Amino acid sequence: MAKKILITGGAGFIGSHVVRRMVNNYPDYIIYNLDKLTYAGNLENLRDIEDNERYNFVLGDIVDAGFINELFAKHSFDGVIHLAAESHVDRSITNPLEFIMTNVVGTVNLLNAAKEAWKEQYGGKLFYHVSTDEVYGSLGEEGLFQETTPYDPRSPYSASKASSDHFVRAYENTYGLPIIVSNCSNNYGSYQFPEKLIPLFIHNIRNNKPLPVYGDGKYTRDWLWVEDHAAAIDLIFHKGKNGETYNIGGFNEWQNIDLIRVLCTVMDKKLNRAPGTSEQLITYIKDRPGHDKRYAIDATKLNQELGWKPSLQFEEGLEKTVDWYLNNEEWLNHVTSGAYKNYYSKQYQI
Ligand code: NAD
Ligand code: DAU
Repeated sequence: MAKKILITGGAGFIGSHVVRRMVNNYPDYIIYNLDKLTYAGNLENLRDIEDNERYNFVLGDIVDAGFINELFAKHSFDGVIHLAAESHVDRSITNPLEFIMTNVVGTVNLLNAAKEAWKEQYGGKLFYHVSTDEVYGSLGEEGLFQETTPYDPRSPYSASKASSDHFVRAYENTYGLPIIVSNCSNNYGSYQFPEKLIPLFIHNIRNNKPLPVYGDGKYTRDWLWVEDHAAAIDLIFHKGKNGETYNIGGFNEWQNIDLIRVLCTVMDKKLNRAPGTSEQLITYIKDRPGHDKRYAIDATKLNQELGWKPSLQFEEGLEKTVDWYLNNEEWLNHVTSGAYKNYYSKQYQI
């Protein structure tokens, strides 16, 4: 019997990679992609699979409890992979409430709907919640985030994700709902909205625009290729243990300014510019308020228990990513001009 899997936020950056992977790799799955299509949701990310008969797009808002309950009653999903979220730290600083609504209230609506729909039989069902390493707070020079690291969220974004993680675990503890949580580091790769560091800087370098570096640029992030994150989600969804948490990361720490310099070098080469040209665009600007100094993930558990490891070295992944953005100018132009918003109405005649 075909299994029905609900993926939320599947029109976003990571979600679109997860949807594509699930549709392509599992012929016995029917995939439902539930997405509100906020500014970050883009159906052009899924053009290659949109005509697959096992793929269904559902336009909707996870904050709307009535709609979510009806959806679960209608489809009797076998599993949920929950990625829908407001995801950009800078936006959370200007509009925290939107993050509370989608990330906290939206997650609780999905948990309630799953609990109700699955109440006769929890066996074989799974609510998989995709979260972030930012819930653990900020590291000093030393140490890595473990699954047992106490939560210490420090931005409205990470506070809302931490809250949603707590609710997911509370539903397991209180109601026995089958759940798994994973916490991942910074992703990079194709289809990322160009407000995040790497696609924004690729876009700006290509257009000879300043590269706005927050503060002194000496903030550290651990970078993982998005397709390796999607592979980890696939593995955890199928092989992970109920109730567990898995950290996902690239063992790949970079200070922002060092990463930006490498990116400038790659871009100079790709654009046939003299070495050093793009670096001249680096512009230090006022820091992000409450900017977390360092994130670094220890993904040993996922490696030892489920055998996952990143498939790409960072330099290779970065070059592939640059190539993708340079070869997909139309996608980038649509996103930056807002034209991608027309795609849904054209494609679905709504
Ligand atoms: P994204 O912003 O690219 O995509 C989010 C998607 O959710 C969009 O398609 C958007 O339309 C949809 N969405 C937003 N609000 C919604 C709502 N109320 N109802 C239904 N859909 C809604 O995000 P992303 O970077 O792909 O992140 C996906 C998930 O992974 C998030 O939960 C994020 O916290 C987590 N995460 C992201 C990273 C990263 O580096 N980007 C790292 C670790 C974890
Ligand atoms: O760690 C996982 C998180 O990574 C995810 O949960 C978030 O959804 C995702 O957005 C990302 O958060 P960051 O805040 O780390 O990503 P961002 O790309 O916004 O910034 C990366 C670093 O670069 C950070 O230290 C801020 C800095 N930066 C960012 C931008 C956009 C700049 O210096 N200038 C910029 O213009």
